[in-house]
Amino acid sequence: MSSPAKLMCLMSTKEKLITHVMKEEPIGCKNKVTVVGVGMVGMAAAFSLLLKDLCGELALVDVMEDKLKGEVMDLQHGALFLKTQKIVADKDYSVSANSKVVVLTAGARQREGESRLNLVQRNVDIFKFIIPNIVKHSPNCILLVVSNPVDILTYVAWKLSGFPRHRVIGSGTNLDSARFRHLMGERLNLHPSSCHGWIIGEHGDSSVPVWSSVNVAGVSLQGLNPQMGTDGDTEDWKQVHKSVVEGAYEVIKLKGYTSWAIGMSVADLVESIQKNMHKVHPVSTLVQGMHGVKDEVFLSVPCVLGNSGLTDVIKMNLKPDEEKQLMKSAETLWGVQKELTL
Ligand SMILES: NC(=O)c1ccc[n+]([C@@H]2O[C@H](COP(=O)([O-])OP(=O)(O)OC[C@H]3O[C@@H](n4cnc5c(N)ncnc54)[C@H](O)[C@@H]3O)[C@@H](O)[C@H]2O)c1
Repeated sequence: MSSPAKLMCLMSTKEKLITHVMKEEPIGCKNKVTVVGVGMVGMAAAFSLLLKDLCGELALVDVMEDKLKGEVMDLQHGALFLKTQKIVADKDYSVSANSKVVVLTAGARQREGESRLNLVQRNVDIFKFIIPNIVKHSPNCILLVVSNPVDILTYVAWKLSGFPRHRVIGSGTNLDSARFRHLMGERLNLHPSSCHGWIIGEHGDSSVPVWSSVNVAGVSLQGLNPQMGTDGDTEDWKQVHKSVVEGAYEVIKLKGYTSWAIGMSVADLVESIQKNMHKVHPVSTLVQGMHGVKDEVFLSVPCVLGNSGLTDVIKMNLKPDEEKQLMKSAETLWGVQKELTL
């Protein structure tokens, strides 16, 4: 055999196929996202992030090794249909190293009829393990907390991480507001994006609908119906907010968990961060000193999200009654928080 033919025989298929031109320097991914917890919420969030092409690398972390492996393989098999370069998973947190955003969805979920506040101690204990590991491998990341009770766990993540407040964000009432705008849209036969309404305060039972700012195309609905949001309203708009609060319980009763809407809502928040959009979202942040809140609690108010995290808070013109409800939410949360051992 001639020597070029002999050489060909010794070459691998890859060497026969590809002529190497230069050795690439490894360039780290600058917009890596890690999702901790590959349950129903974590996977819906991961899937939404992938479909919206929001990260060059996606890492998944969970304690259930088989489930984790199955989920990552399933996503990797769809790599052809995605633009994400790398999808990785491991129970070891080194897989999350150098993330820009870390989405926390790990933990127990509500049982049928269980309130979000009841979940608290179970999930605080889980966070005591997770947060130090995340901080070790991604000291500059933005933490996006989704696990419930989300406002309290955002406070817990802030305390445990030692991160500045602008890098610890709770998904808060971004979902509640989306539910409100969907229901408002159904009543008016308009797309939710044209229906403006803000649910602020606690994600959950004591959330506050800001009726005074509900509008379509700048037309105040309370200007047209001054009774809106009160018991005296013959159109019973109050029911829209009631359906927002009850909606999660109903979905859990019907299918066992909620996943798709929260997944899409997480992707909406991550998009604003990754694309430095400076979009305003109702998300959970430290509200001490705002709207008369005295305690160190996290609650949702309209916040500006960009590449550095949560940079600004919009000062809402709340009515005294709305401010009172927000303070009541704060008191409820502080009542639980002050009993926690971190
Ligand atoms: N903020 C919101 O709007 C919102 C909406 C829906 C659900 N949630 C909350 O999200 C959380 C997750 O819900 P779900 O339906 O995905 O639950 P799930 O039970 O389907 O998944 C939870 C996952 O967390 C993992 N996990 C548990 N301990 C862990 C640890 N120490 N480290 C890593 N992973 C761990 C579990 O193995 C599991 O895969 C719950 O707390 C739920 O209440 C929040």
